[in-house]
Amino acid sequence: MAELGVNIDHVAPLRQARGVAYPDPIAAARAAAEGGADGITVHLREDRRHLRDDDVLRLRAALRVGMNLEMAATDAMVAIALRIRPAHVCLVPERRAEITTEGGLDVAGQQRVLADVLARLRDGGIRASLFVDPDPAQLDAAATMRAAAVELHTGRSCAPLPADAIAAGLAALRDAAEPARALGMIVNAGHGRRLDNVRPIAERPHVDILNIGHSIVARAVFVGMTEAVREMRALVVAP
Ligand code: PXP
Repeated sequence: MAELGVNIDHVAPLRQARGVAYPDPIAAARAAAEGGADGITVHLREDRRHLRDDDVLRLRAALRVGMNLEMAATDAMVAIALRIRPAHVCLVPERRAEITTEGGLDVAGQQRVLADVLARLRDGGIRASLFVDPDPAQLDAAATMRAAAVELHTGRSCAPLPADAIAAGLAALRDAAEPARALGMIVNAGHGRRLDNVRPIAERPHVDILNIGHSIVARAVFVGMTEAVREMRALVVAP
């Protein structure tokens, strides 16, 4: 049965829009944990468009569940991770102009940089995952560099894509999870999941943690964060 990691990034732009102190991402993380979040995910972007360094530091001190820090594979971010010491790190590709993380890492093409970052995090006692598309070549490359975990990008199997693309995306995820586990890696998953499309991923065996952000924060506007997480978690852990 998968666990639910709740990404709270999208609480912060509401605060930034007015330059005020509310809504506080730490309060959002607490409410998410109350609703059953097994972990809290945050993406400290290079442009700090969502969360800021002090948010992540305060969160680290306040959280009673594990923190998963999403970050680019840069020296500056490695230094921050080693200072903050989250339970997990997820290395993601990052482009300034993107609206959200657009795809998985090119692990095979960036082998030298990623292997070096993984080794530095590993030496610092931090388990890191690589955000990858469900592509056998990328999974093989991740296993070769001894990644402890991968997070499968599930964003290519949801609306507004046409039905045949969604079916193909789900088939690729199904075909990737088991081999990745067989290669000795923990398999997480995330991106683009909502109440109406979470089940095909949640019911897959071999998925450890499912990371969901935008749809939960959007739903929280109407029902509150604790309830929004409760609703999603019920679907994630349903047998
Ligand atoms: N996993 C990763 C690696 C991500 O970059 C994101 C988006 O920040 C998510 C999961 C969550 O995606 P969403 O906000 O679409 O649920």
